[in-house]
Formats: sequence, structure tokens, C-alpha cells
Amino acid sequence: MAQRTLARYLTEEQRDKGIITGDLKFLLEIVSRACQAISVAIGKGGLGGVLGEAGSDNIQGEAQKKLDVLSNEILLEANEWGGHLAAMASEEMDLPHLVPHRFPKGEYLLTFDPLDGSSNIDVNVSIGTIFSVLKCPEGADLSTPQAAEAAFLQPGTAQVAAGYAVYGPTTLLVLSVGDGVAVFTLDREQGSFLLTQDQVRIPADTKEFAINMSNRRFWEEPVRRYVDEMLAGREGPLGKDYNMRWVASMVADVHRIMTRGGIFMYPLDSKMQEQGGKLRLMYEANPMAFLVEQAGGAATTGRRRILDIAPEKLHQRVPVILGSKNEVERVTAYHSM
Ligand code: AHG
Ligand code: MN
Ligand code: MN
Repeated sequence: MAQRTLARYLTEEQRDKGIITGDLKFLLEIVSRACQAISVAIGKGGLGGVLGEAGSDNIQGEAQKKLDVLSNEILLEANEWGGHLAAMASEEMDLPHLVPHRFPKGEYLLTFDPLDGSSNIDVNVSIGTIFSVLKCPEGADLSTPQAAEAAFLQPGTAQVAAGYAVYGPTTLLVLSVGDGVAVFTLDREQGSFLLTQDQVRIPADTKEFAINMSNRRFWEEPVRRYVDEMLAGREGPLGKDYNMRWVASMVADVHRIMTRGGIFMYPLDSKMQEQGGKLRLMYEANPMAFLVEQAGGAATTGRRRILDIAPEKLHQRVPVILGSKNEVERVTAYHSM
């Protein structure tokens, strides 16, 4: 049997289940091409002059790396001419990017974190790209980038597709169009993504957690309690020994959870009280929450389901707790005690 390329998978989803349109298929195929181009750029590393600082800051006041800027440009250029998008928004841009007048416009909105795990670029550890697709509301005002922001402010439940690429020892594309989660592996010789796993399931229970422990003293009490209980191991109230992993690239940490379960937390802490959290709702939390739920896991802020949040602004940040369902439910329950 011929191997299923991403294009073939999407065609079958479209034909057999009718859940995606031709435009969405085209959009996802183009995003996957952009991820391939980013993967090639990353692979060049020091030889391609792509490492190091760009010398600029993004809207969130974070120093941009050359690869943050390059990946953002690759995604913009790949997507603006195809006629399937109305606008794009990125972690690295202050305002939405409108499709230039010389190109046709379509009915979808695309948001992305072009390069996730920036602190790992220069140390040759896995990094990624995260993206989310929304329908552009009918009659949305796209006359200026400022006006276009409102079109994006939809809850995560409205996503029609979400995915991430992880640039690790292999380059993977993990995708959901609302019909489970599929994993594609980049065949570098062929230059295409091939289906290597379908209907990914995250086990409901786990013995592995991911959190940046150096923030412990800034956490709220429910998270501190939960982590202390895990650290207490077999003798503690949870009655089992836990292992800890923290890559510090959300894509890599989430991908490990997709593969073997676990719980990931970037909770609210007192340093980030004002911003509302560290991770970004539109570019990180919503697409990952969509994927995790599609794989049978759960995703909350500790207080509510991430996908139900009505966004107030494009660059909104939220606390994120996601992964194995029973563990996410446990720590979420601690927040309401
Ligand atoms: P980005 O590189 O897109 O800014 O995202 C980094 C995020 C996320 O990938 C990761 O989980 C987290 O920041 C790591 O934070 P710490 O450096 O605080 O561990
Ligand atoms: Mn990120
Ligand atoms: Mn980023």
C-alpha cells in the first residue's frame, strides 16, 4: 500500500468524512511546506548563519532570535498568496498581517508561534512551530490591521484545525482537523510528510510531570501542593513515584505527552500575575489544548477549560495545565478547594 502523504490524508478526510474543505486542505498543505522550509533553515545551523540574536524585541518585550524572525517570514510568505486566508497573526508581530491587495482573499484566519522554544535554538535542542486555524467571521472588518484584531478573538472551541511541527532528531508534523490527532514524519529525501501514527491517545494516568521547578516559590498554593505531593512519591498521598522532564520547548514537552502521557504545567505565578501567565492563548495554549483534547487529554488554566476562554486581546497570556486527564483534573480541583 502506498504511504499516506499529508496531502492524501487530507484528501481522504475531505472525501470520506466531509469535515474539511478544499481551501482548508490547501492551507494545511502550505503550512506544512513552510514547516519544511523552517526545518531546512534550522538544519543548517551555524553553517547557514541562522543562529543567534536578531537584535530586536517582539511585542511581548522578548528578545527575538534570528530564527524567530526568519520562521515568521517563511510562514507569512508561504501563506499570503494562496487565496485561502483572510489574515494571519503571530506571536512575533504586534498586529495581524492582512493578505496584500494584489492577492485573493479566503475565509480562514491563521495564527502561529513561528518558532517555539527560542532558548533552545542555540543549544541544538528540539524546537517547533505551533499553528491554529479559525474561520473568519462573516462581515469582519479587515480594513486595517488594527480593525482585524477583533476577527481573531474567538474561543479555542472555534478552531477548525491546529497543529505543531517539532524539529527534533526527526521533523514531525502533528495535526488535528477535529477528528483525532495524526502524526506525520518528514521524509527528507522525498520532501513530504508521511503519516506515521493516527488517532493518538494520551493515557489518562501518568507518572511524569513537566514544570519549570525554579519558579516554585512564585507559584500559587494549589500547584505547589500538587507538585509537593508528586515529589513525595510512593510514601505521599498520590502513592506512586513520579519522574520529571522539562525541555523548555512547549512543542517538545507536549509531544512527549502525546507519545507517552504526562502532565505539563506553566501555571500562574507571582512574577507573571499582571500578564496573566507566560504562554500565549492564541499561539500556544489554544492549539495545544485542541490537540490534547482531541487525543483524549485535558487542558485547563487551573480554573477553567482553556478552549472556553473568550479572548480579550490577541497577545493574551494564560496559565496552562495540560496532558493526562486524571492528573489535570486533580490539580484543577485543587484550585477550587
Ligand atoms: P517561545 O520560544 O515561543 O517564546 O516559547 C517559549 C515557551 C515554551 O516553549 C516553554 O514551555 C516555555 O516558554 C519555557 O519557559 P522557561 O524558559 O521559563 O522554562
Ligand atoms: Mn512558544
Ligand atoms: Mn516563539
